Amino acid sequence: MYKSKIVGVGHYVPPRVVTNHELSQLMDTSDEWITERTGIKERRFSDLKEDTTSVMGTKAARLALERAGVSADQVDFIIFATLSPDFYFPGPGVLVQEALGISTVGALDIRNQCSGFVYALSVADQYIKSGMYQNILVIGSELHSGGLDFTNRGRGVSVIFGDGAGAVLLQRAPEGSLGILSTHLHSEGRHARELALIEPNTSHWVHDIIKEGKVFAEDELVDYHPYMNGNFVFKHAVTRFQEVIREALEANKLSVEDIDLLIPHQANLRISQYIQAKMNLPEEKVFNNIMKYGNTTAASIPIALSEAWEQGRVRDGDLICLAAFGSGFTWASSLLYW
Ligand code: UT7
Repeated sequence: MYKSKIVGVGHYVPPRVVTNHELSQLMDTSDEWITERTGIKERRFSDLKEDTTSVMGTKAARLALERAGVSADQVDFIIFATLSPDFYFPGPGVLVQEALGISTVGALDIRNQCSGFVYALSVADQYIKSGMYQNILVIGSELHSGGLDFTNRGRGVSVIFGDGAGAVLLQRAPEGSLGILSTHLHSEGRHARELALIEPNTSHWVHDIIKEGKVFAEDELVDYHPYMNGNFVFKHAVTRFQEVIREALEANKLSVEDIDLLIPHQANLRISQYIQAKMNLPEEKVFNNIMKYGNTTAASIPIALSEAWEQGRVRDGDLICLAAFGSGFTWASSLLYW
């Protein structure tokens, strides 16, 4: 069986910085509330024209390829994780194939929200292990800002999310390399509605609801924005993150002390700090950048990995742990040597 290794990582965030203060002019919130509850100080918002989900993903992927020293025509498969695709269908994987001028290789789209990147990495790892592919682009990209409710009604959700993309090139590793040790994936669908965007959907399309001439009462209006039962999600997140990290360590007969850097999905700085404290990890072994970007769901781990690499916090031979939890609920982890 082959081994796979991340050989290039890149990210892209749109240039427009949106501060907590700016949001407080749109809704009843404050820098103090957002900072205290989440650690977020600012996030990036796309212009909604140029920087679509697939365009941001393509920009991150170009950088990952460049850093890997691999050309687009060497890519044999594309995996794209997002909950905010450019189109309802087709998914953005094929748009990356077109934009990068890659030949007619397969493009797979993953729908696992905050855990999407780790799920995508897991799929890519299996293809490489089996010998089917050698160079797989794994992308996570999100454009939340176009779909959030910036009125008081949506303030519990809309202050958290931001836009951006990250990507890695996963490659078949030379004999004797360590690379990805394992990936661990979980789901619990009974909580699917606790963090979700339910409508519109295939049985309730916009044109069925907004009938010409019909005036709707306030309580008849359908909410086309994400819903999150924040407290409930928080409590599950802090438990599942720890469980899935420990599961990965046990599977590889490693201990918490062996981890050089934990890169948790950037859901909430308070969640990351809680896990760090509970697992007795020193602060420098946990990477956080949610302060600058908010929660970018499937993009958060590859953006964080790319920044950690740029800052020299990911070095050859380091043991890296990726962990995620989110809508579904789904949660996942991966242990890998850099
Ligand atoms: O990435 C996927 C996984 N997602 C997560 O892990 C997110 C998990 N959840 C959380 O991070 C937190 O639950 C939130 C940051 C979303 C919310 O924090 P919270 O401490 O759970 O707040 P809450 O929802 O219990 O609301 C507390 C109060 C409420 O007011 P009352 O009822 O106490 O008067 C809310 O109406 O804060 C109010 N509130 C706000 N106030 C100012 C809610 N949103 C805001 C806001 N600004 N943006």
